[in-house]
Amino acid sequence: MSYAAPQGPVAPAIDVRSDTVTHPTPAMRSAMAEAPVGDDVFGDDPTILALEGRAAALLGKEAALFVPSGTMGNLVSLMAHVPRGGEVISPSESHIFNDEAANYAVVVGAGLRPIAETPDGEMPIEAVLDAIQDSSDPHCPITSLVVVENCHAHTMSRPIAPDYVARLRAALPPGLPIHVDGARLFNAAVALDLPVAELVRDADSVTFCLSKGLCAPVGSVVVGSADFIWRARRARKLLGGGLRQAGILAAAGLVALQDGPEGTVQRLAEDHRRARTLAEGLREQEGIITPGHLAQPEGTLLDPERVTTNFVLFTVTGGAERRTAYLTALRERGVGMVAYPHGQVRAVTHRGIDDADIASILDASAQALAATRP
Ligand SMILES: Cc1ncc(COP(=O)(O)O)c(C=O)c1O
Repeated sequence: MSYAAPQGPVAPAIDVRSDTVTHPTPAMRSAMAEAPVGDDVFGDDPTILALEGRAAALLGKEAALFVPSGTMGNLVSLMAHVPRGGEVISPSESHIFNDEAANYAVVVGAGLRPIAETPDGEMPIEAVLDAIQDSSDPHCPITSLVVVENCHAHTMSRPIAPDYVARLRAALPPGLPIHVDGARLFNAAVALDLPVAELVRDADSVTFCLSKGLCAPVGSVVVGSADFIWRARRARKLLGGGLRQAGILAAAGLVALQDGPEGTVQRLAEDHRRARTLAEGLREQEGIITPGHLAQPEGTLLDPERVTTNFVLFTVTGGAERRTAYLTALRERGVGMVAYPHGQVRAVTHRGIDDADIASILDASAQALAATRP
């Protein structure tokens, strides 16, 4: 996956390329400055322990592990679940399949069987069952893990309801684990207005990110059973991800997960509202249509009803050349967006984007469309 857009060296003034561009809040910065720390590889960092305890409790699992990134969280989860020669069943547009440098093959020594997902990001359960290999046949890889991505980024970051994971769990053979790549799990919980634990009740392991819409500068957390987390911890060590006084980083994550006004979970609803407003405005602009890729049939108008979290995906009419020209024209007007290789342009709202920015993005988009009209 390459993100076709004019890049750096200076970030655009209004940056909706991703929610990974968020900066730590003032409360996070002061918590980081004051965090009690210790050597986390010895298990002595009180702030890491507090964050891991909080994450496990929030997600309703036995244990948790702080990792530097979502990619490492997914990778240690794969390493903990999947043997060499195993096979992972995953949605075909998942981050694990497309955006993690084939670490499932390179590091884990596993194969991956992609399954086409629905416009809501769910692999049809029948297709998952059909993909399970015959474990008595020595020709076959060993099906070892099923992945769900929640929110599912490429379908407008749609949240996956707990009912789907429950049905998947009930259909799968006992002992075949489910891993949720929940990079934006808290966006899903806020959009569905459900406790986050409910979303992952039927999952065996989960990765969620503190560094995206939740605004922490670094870090993700893996949760699961105590035994799974022990294996994931060992995998983290193998990868060089055993950090020392990492409580400085975990402190920001703890602020993110606080209940009070300094916490950054509840405010995600503002990002969702602004993404909807952006979609409503873009829908009116001539030259903006739907992605025609997963989310909606090609050529129809962008449907703001499909925007339930903080992603707006759309297509610019006129093909790849115009898309590049549109992105460049936006950037010249101080607005940063990116495009996926299959043609969807992506705008992501976050704490750094306010109502005035949404109005500015809509102005810039109208001008960019006019400037690039074939
Ligand atoms: C769905 C999904 N999973 C995993 C990741 C990986 O997170 P990180 O960039 O922290 O490695 C991302 C990053 O954007 C993502 O969107």
